[in-house]
Amino acid sequence: MTTDSPLHIVVLAAGKGTRMHSALPKVLHRVGARPLIDHVLDTARALDAAGCHVVIGHGGEQVRDQAAVPEGLTVHWAHQPDQLGTAHAVDRAMPAIPDDALVLVMYGDVPLVRADTLSRLATAAAPDGAVLGTVLPDPTGYGRLLRDAGGRLAAIVEEKEADDEQRAVREVNTGLLCVPAAALRGWLARIGNDNAKGEYYLTDLVALAAADGRPLAVIDVDDPTEVEGVNDRAQLARAERTLQRRRAAALLARGVTLLDPERFDLRGSLEAGRDVVIDADVIIEGDVVLGDGVHVEAFCLLRDSDVGAGSRIAAHSMLEGATVGSGCAIGPFARLRPGTVCEAGSRVGNFVEIKNSRLGAGAKANHLSYVGDATVGDAVNIGAGTITCNYDGASKHHTDIGEGAFIGSNTALVAPVRVGRNATIAAGSVITRDAPDDALTLARAREQKSVAGWKRPKKKTAAPDAG
Ligand code: UD1
Ligand code: CA
Repeated sequence: MTTDSPLHIVVLAAGKGTRMHSALPKVLHRVGARPLIDHVLDTARALDAAGCHVVIGHGGEQVRDQAAVPEGLTVHWAHQPDQLGTAHAVDRAMPAIPDDALVLVMYGDVPLVRADTLSRLATAAAPDGAVLGTVLPDPTGYGRLLRDAGGRLAAIVEEKEADDEQRAVREVNTGLLCVPAAALRGWLARIGNDNAKGEYYLTDLVALAAADGRPLAVIDVDDPTEVEGVNDRAQLARAERTLQRRRAAALLARGVTLLDPERFDLRGSLEAGRDVVIDADVIIEGDVVLGDGVHVEAFCLLRDSDVGAGSRIAAHSMLEGATVGSGCAIGPFARLRPGTVCEAGSRVGNFVEIKNSRLGAGAKANHLSYVGDATVGDAVNIGAGTITCNYDGASKHHTDIGEGAFIGSNTALVAPVRVGRNATIAAGSVITRDAPDDALTLARAREQKSVAGWKRPKKKTAAPDAG
């Protein structure tokens, strides 16, 4: 084996994940809105390995169907029908691995390890192999690294087998290791299952190597959050926060202001221009683009949307599949649904819902409206409480509002209908036919009239005033 040995990655993903208490196989649980296994496969891809072998078992078909294999990575799926231990799992992948390979073992439930760290491990693995260790303030649950008097790695003892003295060791096995294939084959043949769990422990190869006089090297990872495993929901939540902290740090480094990086969630991709400000508790999902100087206030959810330069998304707004031009003011409490396009300088205020509609430049819908399947011209003013009645119970119909029109408050526009350019619609109208350009259109139940000399009814008083 030389440093030029082809790298083969084995990803262990057959375990049941009992402690998740879930119908979903563990590696399909998500951090950063992506299955754990997808993070691991991305890292494997970054290492440019000659081969990638994923060992599946519990829910294996589901894992294979749902994992997103990145472009450029070919996965060889190995099956482990019964989960007899990590050594048994690795063994399932061995038939497809050549003897001159260097085998890097990754875990499907350790999603946040960095490719750089694994490269370091692979480099240290020549010629005898290396394990990735880390020092934890609380090592509970992990296998402990036991060193001999000379400081060489003598064995890994699992928590369940460890005595009190061994349990006190804080240097733990991350589970990730890299060893020459030929030696690995020999060790796997010798590992038994006479232990507390009755499993074939991969970690037992460490003592075998030491007994052969060729102990494995230890590479310590500086940032223990990289190697945190996900075994239960609490660890899943912790991994999520770790990932979000990383993403926040990357955005800060790129010049995005996050008023509280601890309260920010990126569950997709964010492309941000210069001087973007994001307030606390904003969630970004899917692919979002924010232009220069965009300000997103607190408690907004932005999903698959583009926001143009200088626009402000005020608190508690939700945007999904929306395109907002430059210099717009959206919210607070606005809801932009898929297909919404707000052109430059338009304004959408509180409790306004817009769907599949175009709002022209400088147009306004400032309060309490529903605009659906509509084309709204430039500089239109949509008064409070205006509703496009776009749905007749069977089909959706279009509303067209010409440039410069003024829609009085509480108007119902019964689609399909067209309001002309510079038309004015009187407040409270129900518009069922096209309204012409430049005219005032009134469509109320009854014309308003005034009754002169009318007296309000008076309350009858119980006891008439004496005197
Ligand atoms: C393992 C290590 C332990 C280490 C810890 C780090 C062993 C024996 N122990 O313990 O030293 O500190 O990881 O997180 O290796 N798997 C299979 N098939 C099996 C058994 C497991 O594919 O038959 C997979 C699991 O899906 C998981 C990984 O291997 O992705 C680790 O297995 P798990 O049972 O979680 O090992 P730990 O007890 O955490
Ligand atoms: Ca584990």
